[in-house]
Amino acid sequence: MTEQKATNITWHEANVGQEDREKLLNQKGCVIWFTGLSGSGKSTLALEVESKLHQRGHLTYVLDGDNVRHGLNKNLGFSPEDREENIRRIGEVAKLFNDAGVIAMTAFISPYRADRDNARELLDEGRFVEVFVDCPLEVCEARDTKGLYQKARAGEIKEFTGISAPYEAPSQPELTVNTDSLTLNECTERVIALLENEGLIPVLQ
Ligand SMILES: Nc1ncnc2c1ncn2[C@@H]1O[C@H](COP(=O)(O)OP(=O)(O)OP(=O)(O)O)[C@@H](O)[C@H]1O
Ligand SMILES: [Mg+2]
Repeated sequence: MTEQKATNITWHEANVGQEDREKLLNQKGCVIWFTGLSGSGKSTLALEVESKLHQRGHLTYVLDGDNVRHGLNKNLGFSPEDREENIRRIGEVAKLFNDAGVIAMTAFISPYRADRDNARELLDEGRFVEVFVDCPLEVCEARDTKGLYQKARAGEIKEFTGISAPYEAPSQPELTVNTDSLTLNECTERVIALLENEGLIPVLQ
């Protein structure tokens, strides 16, 4: 648990709530949490889902790895403690988006099950949709979209997930998509179908 440092703070209730904002947006605020190895396809898939949702008139926002580390989390590295704090802050930001009625998508390796479960715990039931972007390490390594695996194998990057740091696959994700056997379009359709089935977005007439 992160220590609460400030005292004498009170929660100020707003006049306009999540439900009011959701009515305006014709969607439910939620967090689609993509997790998987580097190169598994989290960013590609999140951005494609975002395009599809946008076309359908939905308000979305993607929180992605490097972008967040450039700003909010620029003081964090890749040690287990810093990875935990990285995910904790992202979970809190995603929760704010969810409260704003937005469909927030996070595209972080988020290798530790406990950290993802903590992010889930912040949200009401049904608002956290964990998507396991599953792809064999060999395939991710062959893709090596950022050249990071090569550097990790050469010892230039320490604590690289899948090579020198662990990845804990989700035990009960809402959805698993295998990006080695499914096309990007198929993966995208599965995520959209899940959102419809969960009642987070209306089914197209
Ligand atoms: N079904 C698929 N879904 C998503 N990406 C796919 C799929 N099939 C192949 N790819 C390819 O796999 C690569 C995935 O790279 P991407 O940057 O999205 O991974 P990532 O999980 O975000 O990695 P990182 O954690 O390093 O940011 C891209 O080159 C993409 O075109
Ligand atoms: Mg990415």
